[in-house]
Amino acid sequence: MSFRTTPSVDYVEDVSPGRGALAPRAWYASSDAKSLSLNGSWRFRLSATADAEDESFAEEGYDAGDWAEVTVPGHWVLQGDGAFGSPIYTNHLYPFPVDPPHVPTENPTGDHVRVFDLPADWPADGGAVLRFDGVESCARVWLNGTELGEFKGSRLPHEFAVGELLKPAGNVLAVRVHQWSAGSYLEDQDQWWLPGIFRDVTLLHRPTGSAGDFFVHASYDHTTGEGTLRVDSDVDGRVSVPALDIDVATGEPVTVAVEPWSAETPKLYDGELITAGERVPLRIGFRTVVLEDGLIKVNGKAILFKGVNRHEWHPEKGRALDLATMREDVLLMKRHNLNAVRTSHYPPHPAFLDLCDELGLWVIDECDLETHGFTEQAWRDNPVDDDRWTPALLDRAARMVERDKNHPSIVFWSLGNEAGTGRGLTAMAEWIHGRDPERLVHYEGDWDCRDTDVYSRMYAFHDEVEKIGQRLDGGTHKRRELPFIQCEYGHAMGNGPGGLADYQRLFEAHDRLQGGFIWEWIDHGVKHPELGYAYGGDFGEELHDGNFVCDGLIFPDRRPSPGLVEYKKVIEPVRIEGDGADGTVRVTNKYDFADLSALAFEWSYQVDGETVEAGALSVPALAPGESADVKLPEPPSHESGGETQWTVRAVLASGTAWAPKDHVVAWGQFPVSARQSPAVAASDRPAASDRLITLGPASFDARTGALKTIGGVEVTAPRLDVWRAPTDNDDGAEWQTDTRFGMLWRKYGLHRMRHRLDAVELGDDALTVRTRVAPAAWEVGLATVYRWTSDGERLRLTVSVTPEGDWTVPLPRLGVRFGLAQADAVRWFGGGPGEAYPDTRTASMVGRWQSTVDELQTPYVRPQENGARADVRWVELGGLRIEGDPEFWFSARRWTNEQLDAARHLTDLTPGDTVWVNLDHGQHGIGSQSCGPGPLPRYFLKAEPAEFSFVFSTTE
Ligand code: GAL
Repeated sequence: MSFRTTPSVDYVEDVSPGRGALAPRAWYASSDAKSLSLNGSWRFRLSATADAEDESFAEEGYDAGDWAEVTVPGHWVLQGDGAFGSPIYTNHLYPFPVDPPHVPTENPTGDHVRVFDLPADWPADGGAVLRFDGVESCARVWLNGTELGEFKGSRLPHEFAVGELLKPAGNVLAVRVHQWSAGSYLEDQDQWWLPGIFRDVTLLHRPTGSAGDFFVHASYDHTTGEGTLRVDSDVDGRVSVPALDIDVATGEPVTVAVEPWSAETPKLYDGELITAGERVPLRIGFRTVVLEDGLIKVNGKAILFKGVNRHEWHPEKGRALDLATMREDVLLMKRHNLNAVRTSHYPPHPAFLDLCDELGLWVIDECDLETHGFTEQAWRDNPVDDDRWTPALLDRAARMVERDKNHPSIVFWSLGNEAGTGRGLTAMAEWIHGRDPERLVHYEGDWDCRDTDVYSRMYAFHDEVEKIGQRLDGGTHKRRELPFIQCEYGHAMGNGPGGLADYQRLFEAHDRLQGGFIWEWIDHGVKHPELGYAYGGDFGEELHDGNFVCDGLIFPDRRPSPGLVEYKKVIEPVRIEGDGADGTVRVTNKYDFADLSALAFEWSYQVDGETVEAGALSVPALAPGESADVKLPEPPSHESGGETQWTVRAVLASGTAWAPKDHVVAWGQFPVSARQSPAVAASDRPAASDRLITLGPASFDARTGALKTIGGVEVTAPRLDVWRAPTDNDDGAEWQTDTRFGMLWRKYGLHRMRHRLDAVELGDDALTVRTRVAPAAWEVGLATVYRWTSDGERLRLTVSVTPEGDWTVPLPRLGVRFGLAQADAVRWFGGGPGEAYPDTRTASMVGRWQSTVDELQTPYVRPQENGARADVRWVELGGLRIEGDPEFWFSARRWTNEQLDAARHLTDLTPGDTVWVNLDHGQHGIGSQSCGPGPLPRYFLKAEPAEFSFVFSTTE
């Protein structure tokens, strides 16, 4: 009789970090020791449970030839066209019953096999180490039939000594990966659950006498301009830095004059650690991070974080990022004036940190730890407050710190995210402080700041942030001594975030406020054949959090969303303010370290939005914090009467490592002479026939007074529109206690307003149409009068709106919507080039712009209100020119706002026969209520009496 033994899988639910791995150490690529990448195609077999298959696949001679294949690095659920299961998205709810450390019996388990030969020049002497840079969530490893061990800690490296086991050819590396393990309880980050070997697998030759672990200490004394270097190394050797004439023994400090490293001036010195067995390249940045006078200081200066939270994301590869994508992230950040990144919520691929060192970003390196789901049970059984789990927590802390400690860009270690409070966190903080006293410790989850060097919060409202800035927020004694950052704010979900400029003003006004990090960098949309980009629920998950996973400043394809463009302007490192009347511009250097010598300044002068002259502006190389008033040239002569303004730009004087020459870093605009409102004499008289009323170039339906044509252009008549497809920020998050207008707007029927026709009146000089616009079931309404006049050529519409009843909600928008049968190209004079709303309009630049109806759309992954242009003086499309009195918000789309509202994915939107144009007198603010405050009251669009006009003419 033969029977199959069930393999032991006790380790899966074991709270320990694992067995068999080497002690954590610095991550580096040797200059001369050989290495072999084991990335590529691996044999793969998926089982439904952890113990479905025995371990024979790990034995030499096992034939996995008929198995499927997956690419490593990768997540199996994103490969195999659905044959290997699907991704699951939850924000903080565990997608399995909470009973730590137990996991479900249904535990997708991927057996991976890779057979490899050693390269012919692989040295016979020395040892070898097998390194896994990231496996989610638990792996058991065998080489040539010998078990090496097993580990958890998905986004952390694990190494095994394998020298003895290697053979020249036919090495069999077998890895069993379980989706769920005790480790999953520590990895409840708000993201897709994506099992797999998703980072590199590498075999490293370790020559005799090779370096092991080493710690580069490179500090900077801003009072002397000297740096002190000491490289502590497990294996003795020498350290050389040719550019600084340094050649010292490991462990020996040396002090020389250096250029310091900062995010703005990322000076790195190439060096080498030379041991008997190998040479290791070093990239040394000298900087000193301290907490002093209650402030985070680097090289003696308080810094201001203009940061973002970055998850690793690629729409097809998930968290298996290639180098080019990582570089693209850093370049995009630098080009948008960001100076900091929090690696939410785990250490990133190490190459990303190399890029931060090289191109200059302050980094908060965060440990792979979040136990957020325990909040549902008032944090009972939270692993971070249970000694049994402390070894796993300390292991995670050590694997992060040891791997990343040689990066000058890292200024903070973060214990993790949203894990409540507990002894385990304290143990981590104590260990980190002891191991690396030269950096600070961050953690947001404990507002008493027991373990941290900074008071950090997420999504604090503006008024609270201001109080904290004024030191009126109270708190523990420890906390009151600490600087403040918002480790997350400005929730970039869908349209928004709004209110960033208001935060920035606070950050710049109070020393204690040292800036923040937008949530988050990229939408985690999964590329999908039918849906475009999928989000939570699109894979049939029984528990999910919808599109809450699409909340980034860039779209899944890494195109910047308007939120990033707005943020770039809000945090620009040069302030350019002017007074058009007296012809001066005040330039302020808002960098913390750099002077302005890398920038060139340009002025230009616009008449009616058209640049008539431009030139260079000479601005002194101001030191950080300095301002200068610079005289602008005499305004160019031009025909009088137009609207005029100055635009001043700060651009890169020469190319840098992150952007070419002439890249715009900052800009300012200031009006000289104001715009004249369009005047149309009401000289024409409406004339009625049987079916039509004519007035100037227009014809109207005689019975309803509805506009039908202007010149030869047919239109669907304009009428009042107050509805917008609610944005994620309008809808707000379910836990928000503040007013969530998106829901109230629906409750009060603003998406189903009825238009009652009260009167069509033909006067001597006007056609007047009186209506009442109101929702079923409610007494509120908007008495709306359309008054049409003409001088024979142009047609003016004046809309008067008087609210009736008790309006308890602001309006989403207030304006008119009309339809055009044909429209494609769009030209306008006003704010652009991108979208803007009342509290997201800092980056809207006044000028002449052109686009197309399709290009005006902002492709938010979940469709919602988008694409408005601000301050529009006039727009031309579909054969019409429309001038506003006053300026207006313009948008146009090939579907209605109701269709936009109903769509779940962009692929639900199909162009109809009509282009719908909204001309808005007002828009409600955007805010950040999908996770944070709604719009500040000053951005509310109150239901108040209003009057506004548009002048129509044809462009032919
Ligand atoms: C925070 C959390 C993030 C993310 C964000 C909302 O609470 O730290 O991981 O969930 O909210 O998008």
